[in-house]
Amino acid sequence: MRAPSNITAHDNRPIGVFDSGIGGLTVVKELMEHLPNESIVYFGDTARIPYGTKSPDTIRRFALEDSIFLLEHQVKMIVVACNTASATSLPWLEQWVPVPVVGVIEPGAQAALSATRTRRIGVIGTATTIRSRAYPESIRQRQPHLDIIEQACPLFVPLIEEGWLEEEATFLIARRYLQSLVDSQVDTVVLGCTHYPLLKPVLQHILGPDVTLIDSGQETARVVAQRLTQLGLTAHPDHTPQHRFFISDLPHMFQEIGERFLQRPLPSVETVNFDAFLTGKGQNFWASFQSAFSAKKDLVNHEE
Ligand code: DGL
Repeated sequence: MRAPSNITAHDNRPIGVFDSGIGGLTVVKELMEHLPNESIVYFGDTARIPYGTKSPDTIRRFALEDSIFLLEHQVKMIVVACNTASATSLPWLEQWVPVPVVGVIEPGAQAALSATRTRRIGVIGTATTIRSRAYPESIRQRQPHLDIIEQACPLFVPLIEEGWLEEEATFLIARRYLQSLVDSQVDTVVLGCTHYPLLKPVLQHILGPDVTLIDSGQETARVVAQRLTQLGLTAHPDHTPQHRFFISDLPHMFQEIGERFLQRPLPSVETVNFDAFLTGKGQNFWASFQSAFSAKKDLVNHEE
């Protein structure tokens, strides 16, 4: 018998989220707030962080491997919390991954457009994110006539991981990085890196109270909620969510820093031997993958 059309479908499988490390917990925090019934499996590639200084080819391979790990946990959607991975790998992952993939660039770009009044937008991120030009391309696809000033801020990630959120040195470095944005009188700045929401007070102080800071994580959570609803993939309202956190290495001060990102106690974290996981997939898996990977790589490079 066919179900009456007013019965909504539900899917209690977890949402998969990956990042190069623990910064992606800023996105998990937003997902937990916006989607309290959803289970989440998080993978932070702490053994291979930073992604932000690596080449797009390497990051694409890492992003794919991270996604394969999440798919083993029967995720219904993959959220690429890492800006660098989203900037370099999203179309590529969409071709490979058999579940919907949501990155942080498009939601951030859309939010910046909605926020700007003067049409002068600043974008800050890792060196690789800025070099990829992913944010300006995404913004200009929607609205070609505006000024976008980009600035790579490579020292922010180590400062934040060290917990130096309001030190004098952090202010000095931030002033130097943000000078071009201040000079250009941007009215909106995209925080194009998982870590930067933790620097909001410093950034707001330097940029001034009238500048709107766009937190890609918040916008991404909104887009994830929309996509789940559109696709009939939301968890049942009575579903009790489970959250699992995996990392590929246990760094110094992980718990403390992780809780700062998540802004709540971090439940137990499972360390995976990621090399063993990848090798354990077996030679056949990687051999078939390798040939398809080269073919698709040509395709992607050709399209760029
Ligand atoms: N997660 C990265 C990003 O959002 C920052 C850390 C890194 O460089 O890997 O771009």
